[in-house]
Amino acid sequence: MLKTDILVVGTGIAGLFFAIKTAMKRKDLSITIMTKDFAEVSNTQFAQGGIAAVLNTLEDSFEQHIDDTIRAGGGCSDKEVVRMVVEQAPERLYELIGLGVHFDTVNKGYDLALEGGHSHKRILHHGDTTGEEVERALLATVMSLSNITILEKHTVIDLVVENKTCVGAFYFTPDNRIHYTRFRTLVLSTGGCGQLFKHTTNPAIATADGIAIAYRAGAEIADMQYIQFHPTALYEPGKNPSFLLTEALRGYGAHIVNHEGKRFLFQTDSRGELATRDIVSGAIGEEFRKSGKNCVFLDCRHLDKETFAVHFPAILAYCKSIKLDPFTDLLPITPVAHYQCGGIVVNKNAQSSVNGLYAIGECARTGLHGKNRLASNSLLEAVVYAHQAAQAVCNSIDGTCLCTNGYINKYGIIPGKLHENQISILKKKLQETLQKFYLEGLPESHVTEIIAELKKQAFALYNSLTVSLKLIEILNMLTVAGIIVKQAKNGLSEPYLSENYCN
Ligand code: SIN
Repeated sequence: MLKTDILVVGTGIAGLFFAIKTAMKRKDLSITIMTKDFAEVSNTQFAQGGIAAVLNTLEDSFEQHIDDTIRAGGGCSDKEVVRMVVEQAPERLYELIGLGVHFDTVNKGYDLALEGGHSHKRILHHGDTTGEEVERALLATVMSLSNITILEKHTVIDLVVENKTCVGAFYFTPDNRIHYTRFRTLVLSTGGCGQLFKHTTNPAIATADGIAIAYRAGAEIADMQYIQFHPTALYEPGKNPSFLLTEALRGYGAHIVNHEGKRFLFQTDSRGELATRDIVSGAIGEEFRKSGKNCVFLDCRHLDKETFAVHFPAILAYCKSIKLDPFTDLLPITPVAHYQCGGIVVNKNAQSSVNGLYAIGECARTGLHGKNRLASNSLLEAVVYAHQAAQAVCNSIDGTCLCTNGYINKYGIIPGKLHENQISILKKKLQETLQKFYLEGLPESHVTEIIAELKKQAFALYNSLTVSLKLIEILNMLTVAGIIVKQAKNGLSEPYLSENYCN
């Protein structure tokens, strides 16, 4: 049986930063990181925009970043949490830089970008591939630390809670076996749930595993109904995940226009293209309803070619690969599911309602985002809460023990046939249902019935088949879909878009 002091699940920015900080402070502790894919496959890897931080206090201030965050979140953020995150931002950013993350510079300072909902330029970025750069530098550091072990293609299935404390986990390995591990502390950093929707910017791994695992272990989950739709995903019907056209493009001066080539966002908000994502997505949905069309357009044709190529090289290359030229063509766009604002409820130390179980990054509900996250606050929240968790774990772990008794392998190895096709059918149905729930107003009672039926079918597969990663994922997705629909009774995230949305 694998024994480790700390088990981290997930290799995005939050999990890696936590592991690094803890491993450097406490060389006596063993840290194991499990990830269900290869280490570099994470939501972080896909982040284009950057990380928000107030570095220039002459023109900008913490108070303005705080106000922008609370306003974007519809006034539902926890004000103390917002202050903590915003005030820690510079320190955490300099730590990332110290670990080898390169952010773009200009005139001996950082090249701060503007994004929707921000009253000032305050986004540190690395071209349009910030996530990739952060992931590269953090993984390189993790590899250099001898007390961290990364186990790729290892999927945590369920947790063991004894005396109200999380002490162990079952996990699935590439040889189709289920094993058991004991630890003193568990940190979930498993990302979001974008793949519950038919159209999303999130990679295939974003199947809400952490939420489902924590829920089954008895942890409190909240605000799952607040799903953020990013307004500017490239419209390519049938593509999953959708390719993102970063918010920074609008900060850089790109316009959103309708089929008549007219800008329409100022009719909804005086900030126009620089309003927050909920407002821009809502206005695009309204435009769909009026025009009967499936997309609107991002217009970059007036922007300077040379500087565009320097700031957005990955977007330029992708557009060219599908024969779109941002300097001569309008880029078709549509809103798609992008970010889960809710999740596992944690306090300011990232501690969940179950002892020994911490959650950081997108899977955690810290209270920062309210109903709608401010652009480029997600990687920031991840590093601040990774830091908080590292401090709390280092201070408390000596009071815990690594017990190794009392374990029952409730899974064993289940013989049977793999039916990936059947699982894909269930997944597609689920994705279509949630898409219609959010965007076409499919009634909650109908959605609940469909989810119950899909669950029945998934459990029938579970009882008759070999356990597979796909089966674990669909069971997690169905669990979390049920939570979303239940919590949506408290009010869905705006907007409801039209049935014309991205057919
Ligand atoms: C983007 O670059 O538009 C996405 C970054 C974020 O989600 O904040």
